Amino acid sequence: MRSSISLAVAALATAVFATPSTENRTIDEIYQAALNEGGVVTLWHGGDEKNQQDGLKQAFEKRFPGITLNVTVDLSKYHDGRLDEQLANNDVQVDSIILQTLHDYPRWKEEGALLNYKPQNFESIASEFQDPDGAYYGYAIFGWTTTWNTAKYNGSLGDFADALLPELKDKLILTYPNDDDAVLYAFDLVIKKLGNEWFDALVAQNPTWVRGSATPGDQLALANNSYVAAFGTGGFSGPNVNTSLPTDAPFVTWPQTAAILKDAPHPEGAKLLHNFILSDEWQFATPQWTVRTDAPANFPDIFQEPNTNVTDFLPWMLDRPNVERLRFWYEARLGTAQGLSPLEDDL
Ligand SMILES: *[C@@H]1O[C@H](CO)[C@@H](O)[C@H](O)[C@H]1NC(C)=O
Ligand SMILES: *[C@@H]1O[C@H](CO)[C@@H](O)[C@H](O)[C@H]1NC(C)=O
Ligand SMILES: *[C@@H]1O[C@H](CO)[C@@H](O)[C@H](O)[C@H]1NC(C)=O
Ligand SMILES: *[C@@H]1O[C@H](CO)[C@@H](O)[C@H](O)[C@H]1NC(C)=O
Ligand SMILES: *[C@@H]1O[C@H](CO)[C@@H](O)[C@H](O)[C@H]1NC(C)=O
Ligand SMILES: *[C@@H]1O[C@H](CO)[C@@H](O)[C@H](O)[C@H]1NC(C)=O
Repeated sequence: MRSSISLAVAALATAVFATPSTENRTIDEIYQAALNEGGVVTLWHGGDEKNQQDGLKQAFEKRFPGITLNVTVDLSKYHDGRLDEQLANNDVQVDSIILQTLHDYPRWKEEGALLNYKPQNFESIASEFQDPDGAYYGYAIFGWTTTWNTAKYNGSLGDFADALLPELKDKLILTYPNDDDAVLYAFDLVIKKLGNEWFDALVAQNPTWVRGSATPGDQLALANNSYVAAFGTGGFSGPNVNTSLPTDAPFVTWPQTAAILKDAPHPEGAKLLHNFILSDEWQFATPQWTVRTDAPANFPDIFQEPNTNVTDFLPWMLDRPNVERLRFWYEARLGTAQGLSPLEDDL
C-alpha cells in the first residue's frame, strides 16, 4: 500500500517537475509529422490590419509545401477573450497564439492551457523573454517609433517634444492611448518624463486620433491627406516615410509572445510554426532587434538600446488596476475611441 502510494507520488513528481527537453527532431521530421496530421496550423496573431501576417504566411507555406497557415489577425485584446471562451467551453480551435497582451500568458500557463514545449533554438532566447518550461516565449521585438512623411516635412523628427512644433499643428495622426495598451504605455512613459504639460500641449496641437497602431503609418505613406507625423505608435517604412527613435523620454518595445495550446487541434503543425519563427532563416533574414542572444554581429542588441526597457512591458501589463486607471484618465480627456475596429475601417 505505502509503496504504491510513494510510486504514484514519484510518478506525479516526475510528470509535474520534469523539464521538457528541447525539440530534438530535425525540421524535416517535424514537417512530415505536420503533414501526417493534416497539414494545417491555426494561428491567432495580434495586430490591427488583416494583411499584417501575410509575409509570414507566404514564407511559411513556401518553405513547407502542403502546409496551410490558417492565420487570423485581430486586436490582441479581442483574441484573448475569444480564446478564454474556447478554453471555458473545452473547445480549443487554435493551435498557436501570438499576442501583445503579455499578461495573459502566465495566467494561461497557471490554468494549464499551454503546452510546455521548447522549439529548436529555445536556449538562445534571452532568459528575460522565456518561460523556463517553454509554455511561452517572445519570438520578435515589437516597438513604437516616430514616423513622418518626408515629402511633407523637410526636417527630421524624433523626440516627443517635436510633436509640439508649431508646423505640426493640425497635422498629427495618433493612436488613441485608451484603445491600445501598448500605446497607453507609450504615453505613460512620456508623461512620467515630460509631465502632463506635454500632453496638454499635444492636445492643443489638435491631432487626429485614430484606432489601430498601424493606421498612422499607413496614412502617412499617402500623399492625398494632410497628415505629417505620428508619435508613440507603429512605424512604417516606405517611399516618402521615415522613422526614428525618440531620445527625450523612453520609447516602447516588448517581446511579442508565442504559445502553443495544450489542446491544440494540430500540435505538430504548431510545433513546425514555432520552430520556423525561431529559426536562423526567419530570425536572421535582415538585421533587426531579435529575441535571440546569438544573432550575427551586425544585428542591433535590444538590451543595449538607450531609452527603452524591453522587459518592463510585462510587469506594466500585469498591473491591470493601473492600466484601467490610466485608460480612463485619457478617456476623460479624449473621449472614447471612435470608429470601427481598425481591421474593418478601411484606414
Ligand atoms: C528526444 O526528446 C524526447 C521528448 O522530449 C525524448 O523522449 C527522447 O529521449 C529524446 N531523444 C534523444 C535522442 O535525445
Ligand atoms: C481556421 O481558423 C478558424 C479560427 O480562426 C477555424 O474556425 C477554422 O476551422 C480553421 N480552419 C481549418 C481548416 O482548420
Ligand atoms: C522641402 O525642400 C525643398 C527644397 O528646398 C522645397 O522645394 C520644398 O518646398 C520643401 N518642402 C516642404 C514641405 O517644406
Ligand atoms: C488616397 O489614396 C489612397 C491610395 O491611393 C486611396 O485608397 C484613397 O481612397 C485616397 N483617399 C482619398 C480621400 O482620395
Ligand atoms: C531619415 O531621417 C534620418 C534622421 O533622423 C536621416 O539621417 C535619414 O537620412 C532619413 N532618411 C531618409 C530616407 O529620408
Ligand atoms: C527594466 O524593467 C524591469 C522590469 O520592470 C526592471 O526590473 C529593470 O530594473 C528595468 N531596467 C532598467 C535599466 O531600468
